[in-house]
Amino acid sequence: MVPLTRKYMPTKLEEIIGNEEAKEAIRKWLTSVLHGKKEKPIMVHGPPGIGKTSLAYALAREFDLELLEISSSNLRDKASLEKSIRPAFYSKTIFGKQRIILIDDIDAMTKDDRGGMGELADLVKDAKIPVMLTANVTSDPKMKSIKQFVHQIQMKKVAPSDIAHLMHSIMQKEGIKITEEMVSKIATGCSGDVRSALNDLESSVFNIRDRKVDEKTVLRTIFKSSTLSGARYASSIMDMDRDMLKLWLDENIAREYEDKEEIAQAFQWLSKADVFDGRIMNRQYYGYLRYSMTLMTAGVGLSKKQKYAKISEYQFPLYLMEMSRSMFTRAMSKSIATKIGKMVHTSSKRVMPQISFYANLVKRDAERAKIFYSLTDDELEFLMGIAG
Ligand SMILES: Nc1ncnc2c1ncn2[C@@H]1O[C@H](COP(=O)(O)OP(=O)(O)OP(=O)(O)O)[C@@H](O)[C@H]1O
Ligand SMILES: [Mg+2]
Repeated sequence: MVPLTRKYMPTKLEEIIGNEEAKEAIRKWLTSVLHGKKEKPIMVHGPPGIGKTSLAYALAREFDLELLEISSSNLRDKASLEKSIRPAFYSKTIFGKQRIILIDDIDAMTKDDRGGMGELADLVKDAKIPVMLTANVTSDPKMKSIKQFVHQIQMKKVAPSDIAHLMHSIMQKEGIKITEEMVSKIATGCSGDVRSALNDLESSVFNIRDRKVDEKTVLRTIFKSSTLSGARYASSIMDMDRDMLKLWLDENIAREYEDKEEIAQAFQWLSKADVFDGRIMNRQYYGYLRYSMTLMTAGVGLSKKQKYAKISEYQFPLYLMEMSRSMFTRAMSKSIATKIGKMVHTSSKRVMPQISFYANLVKRDAERAKIFYSLTDDELEFLMGIAG
């Protein structure tokens, strides 16, 4: 699944919400540089997730420029700096296309003692083409040298109402439904950070929409997968715990796979997962969780040589069925024994081992016994079932 932030990364300036003034100033600046006017490079600064990087990409697209992104590590390599980077600041591409240079997150460089700021300042000060720098904050003293060579443009947090509006439009395109209350909670809680709002939207939808797949869909995802990540995806959509998944796999491996080697292989992975789970429980070492999960999903899923085209009828784990049957039997016997005990003046504990004796007694005259012991229809039926 492509993250919403990537799928909805703005491709045009108008798709970048908020910061209208800053956008307009940047548009003017770019137009002016492209018309050959001498302008300083711009340094766009502001809090995270408001569209600084996206803006550079949207600009390039809208003005049909080639975007060249330069990172701080590029600046440290003296040889490549002189040979390929510096020339780019003065010229078009070899095909004659105009360039825009993006130097993203320059404040990250100041955290690094090896510097780079000096080189950067030296590089941008005589640039002949549009250069855009971005930063979260510009207050670091190390940025002093660069500031005199750039024109600063501030971008601010995006207003909750603009964020809510964007969320609605994405929800409509994606067919996502969440409550208005949730939308406004996300839009106001993200402190103007659009990226974090979209990530929150995605995770809240994930919980509501995708989490609820049934056991058979989980099995199908595992058995029919052809890649590691495809099989592992099952763990993120399933609505059951690992022990339950193990039981379901145990019951159904041989229903899906037909080749003996594949079946053996799949059980081997499953048992290894079980070994890890044992260690997780014994040592409380939850770091093993991802191994156990991967063995269960990808191990089992990739044990086949080829995907089976058939549609298998997956079964509820027999083990659980028997367990629940015996639990049902116990619960039923207990309630009947309590009722009988009351009438014969003894404890249910004493009646329990003799329940089949009483069942035979009841069978002799079921109707009277039902009234005498105040049995329900189900209880009577149960007793008739175990009577000899
Ligand atoms: N103003 C906005 N309009 C629309 N989408 C936005 C906006 N700001 C951020 N986004 C969404 O968030 C994602 C990340 O935004 P972007 O990388 O441009 O933020 P940034 O300001 O560069 O953050 P950082 O300071 O962490 O580098 C984008 O791909 C987009 O989906
Ligand atoms: Mg950025």
